[in-house]
Amino acid sequence: MIEQPSALITGASRGIGRAIALEMANRGYAVGVNYVRSKARADEVVEQIIAAGGLAVALQGNVGLPGGRDSIIARTLEEFGRLDLLVNNAGITSPGRKDLLEATEENWDLVFDTNLKGPFFLAQRAANEMVSLIKAGSIPRGTIVNVSSISAYAVSTNRVDYCIAKAGVQMMTWLLASRLAEERIRVYEICPGVISSDMTAPVTEKYDKLIAEGLSPIRRWGQPEDVARAVATVASDAFPFSTGDRINVDGGFHIRQL
Ligand SMILES: NC(=O)c1ccc[n+]([C@@H]2O[C@H](COP(=O)([O-])OP(=O)(O)OC[C@H]3O[C@@H](n4cnc5c(N)ncnc54)[C@H](OP(=O)(O)O)[C@@H]3O)[C@@H](O)[C@H]2O)c1
Repeated sequence: MIEQPSALITGASRGIGRAIALEMANRGYAVGVNYVRSKARADEVVEQIIAAGGLAVALQGNVGLPGGRDSIIARTLEEFGRLDLLVNNAGITSPGRKDLLEATEENWDLVFDTNLKGPFFLAQRAANEMVSLIKAGSIPRGTIVNVSSISAYAVSTNRVDYCIAKAGVQMMTWLLASRLAEERIRVYEICPGVISSDMTAPVTEKYDKLIAEGLSPIRRWGQPEDVARAVATVASDAFPFSTGDRINVDGGFHIRQL
């Protein structure tokens, strides 16, 4: 077993997950860099971490499938012998961004499997491993961080599956936080606003305009690093008496205005 803490970051080949992986490596974590398709990009993240003197491994696996979840947890433990932090970051937008009246069950199932069911059962699996590691004295405590979205409460009628799944992530966080407190595992929800990544690239113009018009009090695009710093902070010892919290990383988007 390695001496440093270890983190499994889902969807870490690109965007927000990549920034979280780099940030956690910077803070001394050995990092499992999960991806589903982008092997070359995940390998690049791993190489960057290793070049900076860190420890990382690329882990292929679809979080929406039981076999994918089993494999990435098993490989993290094989590689590092411990799991201190799970970041449920992997996610997809609603395919085709279809209007509510055209939304399909097929897309719903895909989005829910990836963005809600997968993260829950991955957290369940990780929590069971953390409980055993804590009982054995191998790790002091555990942390689970779930990446949701402002879409958890702001409607987009062309992404109903995404919005409903992200709304579910808040309840999932509360449930996990409530049950796992007694196991010495703290659970947080990070709620990003509009963040520059491949996911938002197709709607750049729309968001450029909205941001310029004051969509959020802080008038700029969020960067993946903004989210990564929030994740690293809740995973640290900065909030020892807090669990289940939603941390907004949205430039103040959540503030209602008159
Ligand atoms: N960008 C935003 O404005 C924004 C705002 C709020 C919330 N979020 C949330 O933040 C998270 C990251 O978003 P992003 O903008 O960084 O997205 P992104 O740039 O599209 O990257 C998505 C990442 O998730 C991985 N992934 C997708 N499906 C997966 C699966 N089934 N199993 C494992 N990995 C999978 C991708 O792996 P491959 O590279 O292998 O495909 C990639 O690493 C998502 O949960 C998203 O909903 C994003």
